Amino acid sequence: MASVETSKNGGVTQNIMSKAPWTDEQGIAMKVYQGAVLALEVLVVTIKMYITWIMSIFQFFFPREPKSVKGEIILITGAGHGMGREMALRFGKLGGVIVCVDINPHGNKETVDMIKKQDGKSHAYECDVTNREAINALAEKIKQEVGDVTMLVNNAGIMPCKPLMQTNEKEIRNVFEINVLAQLWLIQAFLPKMMERNHGHIVAMASMAGVIGLRNLVPYCGTKFAVRGIMEALHEELREDKRDFSGIKLTVICPYIVDTGLCKNPKIKFPTLMKIVSPQIAADQIVHAVRRNYYEITIPSSLYYINKICRTLPRAVPLHLKDFLDSGLEAQE
Ligand SMILES: NC(=O)c1ccc[n+]([C@@H]2O[C@H](COP(=O)([O-])OP(=O)(O)OC[C@H]3O[C@@H](n4cnc5c(N)ncnc54)[C@H](O)[C@@H]3O)[C@@H](O)[C@H]2O)c1
Repeated sequence: MASVETSKNGGVTQNIMSKAPWTDEQGIAMKVYQGAVLALEVLVVTIKMYITWIMSIFQFFFPREPKSVKGEIILITGAGHGMGREMALRFGKLGGVIVCVDINPHGNKETVDMIKKQDGKSHAYECDVTNREAINALAEKIKQEVGDVTMLVNNAGIMPCKPLMQTNEKEIRNVFEINVLAQLWLIQAFLPKMMERNHGHIVAMASMAGVIGLRNLVPYCGTKFAVRGIMEALHEELREDKRDFSGIKLTVICPYIVDTGLCKNPKIKFPTLMKIVSPQIAADQIVHAVRRNYYEITIPSSLYYINKICRTLPRAVPLHLKDFLDSGLEAQE
């Protein structure tokens, strides 16, 4: 006896009862039938993959229209400085209601004032994003005072830069608390409303240090690889759910070196190849990617393709290129 189930993505699952009383002929017929079904499924999935691939190439040359963020309630952590501030200014200019969250109230208020000066709407909230209770209380407060957050930008982060053996336990715990756990607490606080409405966007600040390992950044690389893993897994959890969450978009940002002061001692051998990007240019690229619902970008974009090609080669081969480029971060005092 065979039961056939259709999964969410259209695949067909066969449950053949092992003790079914097949005659030899029936057994052979069943095997032929199973083989035919499998061949058909492989054909369908191959066609689907090719169509999606062709569509992606088309979209590369003819990018989709940017979506509007007018009226979206956009929460940005670490909005008081650097890329967080620059993103806040740009989203504010585009008509978003910007909820600026930072542990530093002065920088945060400056950002809010700058948004208001350009006739945007913005609210400042002071919060240490590592404090889960404070985040949940903040979520309730924002809901009452501003409304439901429809876009979460998990941006706040720190970057201790020294050899692993000179990094103490507190520093390691701290970088994981801010760069990883805080992102999870914030997603847990704001995703449920997005799921209820099947509308929302979560943006995560990862890094090129979450794509390749770099010296002096062992724990930091760990946190940024974790962010990429969390986002990829969350994407699958939403995609494979029986409910429709196709209206919730995810974007992962992987900058290399951005001139915000976070990277104290950058080392660049070929500045034309591995440019240090200004926070303004980085924010332009982030907003561009978010408005087009891109899943992942690197800044600069060339690193995305260089990395993909290098990953197809044996591990020792791209190391020559890495040594040749000889760039990264020197340890901080
Ligand atoms: N600057 C770079 O070269 C670079 C490269 C790759 C990735 N990134 C990532 O981009 C993000 C932003 O980096 P940036 O360079 O703009 O940083 P930044 O230092 O300029 O700004 C970070 C902001 O986060 C805030 N913050 C820090 N800890 C916090 C906490 N516990 N709670 C709330 N707010 C807190 C700070 O007060 C500050 O306003 C970070 O996640 C960083 O890891 C930066």
